[in-house]
Amino acid sequence: MKANDLRRRFIDFFVSKGHAEIGSSSLIPENDPTVLFTTAGMHPLVPYLMGEEHPSGKRLVDVQKCIRTDDIDEVGDPTHCTFFEMLGNWSLGDYFKKEAIQWSYEFLTNPLEKGGIGLDPKRLMVTCFAGDSDAPRDDEAADIWETLGFKRYDKASPEDRGLIFFYEKKKNWWGPAGQTGPCGPDTEMFYDTCPELAPGEHKKGSSEFSQKKYELPGWGGKCHANCECGRFVEIWNDVFMQYNKQADGSYVPLKQQNVDTGMGLERVTAILQGMPSHYETELFAPLVEKIKELAKPTEADLARYASIADEELRKKTIELDTERSLRIIADHIRAATFIMGDAWSVSPSNTDQGYILRRLIRRAIRHGKMLGISGNFTDVLGQIVIDIYGEVYPELKRNQERIIAEYKREEEKFQLTIEVGLRELRKIWNEENCKKEFTVVDGAKAFYIYETYGFPIEMITEELKKIGYEIDQVKFMESFDKAMKDHQEKSRAGSEQKFAGGLADHSFECTMLHTATHLLHKALKVVLGDDVNQKGSNITAERLRFDFNYPQKMTPEQVKQTEDIVNEQIQRDLPVSYEIVTVEEAKQKGAIGLFEDRYGDKVKVYKMGDFSYEICGGPHVEHTGQLQKFKIKKEEACSAGIRRIKAVVVGAGM
Ligand code: ALA
Repeated sequence: MKANDLRRRFIDFFVSKGHAEIGSSSLIPENDPTVLFTTAGMHPLVPYLMGEEHPSGKRLVDVQKCIRTDDIDEVGDPTHCTFFEMLGNWSLGDYFKKEAIQWSYEFLTNPLEKGGIGLDPKRLMVTCFAGDSDAPRDDEAADIWETLGFKRYDKASPEDRGLIFFYEKKKNWWGPAGQTGPCGPDTEMFYDTCPELAPGEHKKGSSEFSQKKYELPGWGGKCHANCECGRFVEIWNDVFMQYNKQADGSYVPLKQQNVDTGMGLERVTAILQGMPSHYETELFAPLVEKIKELAKPTEADLARYASIADEELRKKTIELDTERSLRIIADHIRAATFIMGDAWSVSPSNTDQGYILRRLIRRAIRHGKMLGISGNFTDVLGQIVIDIYGEVYPELKRNQERIIAEYKREEEKFQLTIEVGLRELRKIWNEENCKKEFTVVDGAKAFYIYETYGFPIEMITEELKKIGYEIDQVKFMESFDKAMKDHQEKSRAGSEQKFAGGLADHSFECTMLHTATHLLHKALKVVLGDDVNQKGSNITAERLRFDFNYPQKMTPEQVKQTEDIVNEQIQRDLPVSYEIVTVEEAKQKGAIGLFEDRYGDKVKVYKMGDFSYEICGGPHVEHTGQLQKFKIKKEEACSAGIRRIKAVVVGAGM
């Protein structure tokens, strides 16, 4: 079964159960400062999980584009992708555990002619939440699985398959997406990739397994759903969103009980095709083929393996490294292409999404160099991604020219950086006249070059060898690793700080600023012209940040005029309401918003008196007077052709 077929089947199955199909939202979350990218299907739907009305109803089905960069170190293994598509069905205060589990099971195990994907029920394992002081054990979910033929693991006999395992929050709880918001226990479905093994037996040959071993208490070291040996692959997660996590850490029942599910399209496609990983499926194969064709490692490229004396081992190591590099390149170029092809036009830069994008592209280039790919190649690979996905995601085709140009530009920039970096590398080592013995300080220097110029460590050591240093590889790597760890600790602390505090938490502050964003958007159109459009938005409890296209700096008069217009609308105390209309009607009435990526026939449009009419999910305050006063704090350049405004409101309260 091809991925296209799987997507279609999933949608059709849930449409037949009364769900409305909705399109994927942007990869860049709007109005949410807690994350840089949409990391799960639930992200764009948070307002609706919190009780806002959705234009398409209470049962939805979608395929959401997602980016997760926290697993970046695992990229290259058979199951993790930086970019992936999440298939999801949704209940917004409608059905709950019984239907969700029943339908998941039906879709997985129904034969093809009955709209399912025909997996063998004997190869499935499921997991449920074990309970703790925040929420009880999810016996309700486990009972439903029992009616479908599964057995609680503590009541099963040794030869039983199809077990129900219980795990703590770390494994069987999902959300909130930030620090606060909707969340709840989940039940996950796993697929047995080694059915020939006896129940409880571990998959063979996983070298890292013994170090990472995750034992289930009372299970005698046997294999279980979440076992790190990799025998079982998680394929689907049904989350029962019934709590709202508060800023003080407490869990308060939500006013509506929701279902949020996520099935990984790439993983399931690989399973259905009997492939060892998603890299062999049609979603990746043309890309991997092209990389193989371009990769021509020379003797010099392979010199770094010379220290491995055993020939067999050397060959094997080269083989494994090559495979890993191929996968990293394919994964990163695919993710980068989707980021650049998104409606918000992200370019490589040194901040936020642009920084992640830059890291993805540069990491791909570095691995390309390791494989001996000469010359620029990312644009060629980007084009293949566009060819693979252009039909399903037309935004890639729409943005094709820009994507290819960005790849070319970034690759040239990186080349220059490398040259500057090489000069600096030589300078540092020559100036200080370092001796042949490498000390802790030298590892830190090498790390500086690595971090600043994005040099692979191999490149640094090779370069040093070229200028005459003998390197004690072990000592050198020890000191380098130490410098890297110190840096990671610092940057982790930094990012936690960044994400603490103001959140997309539906607090009154955030809600007021969200309303102010609509007023600002319209005011900018009045002052600067109708071509000005939102290019990004980010709200914390303290301030709003709004990006828009405009070719030059705003004059102080324009800033003042914009501010005055917003304050005038606040003083008029306009009522805020919304209506659900057809896309056509929204267009006719001049709604502000992105139409190009919407499908589904209805949209929700927020209206602020006669002043603003904008497509949006909410939430907003009830009348503009609640904002009291609006102030622009800063107007600055954000990226080429894009300006950024930071502003605050002083609210009057309810
Ligand atoms: N939100 C759930 C997940 O990402 C479905 O796993």
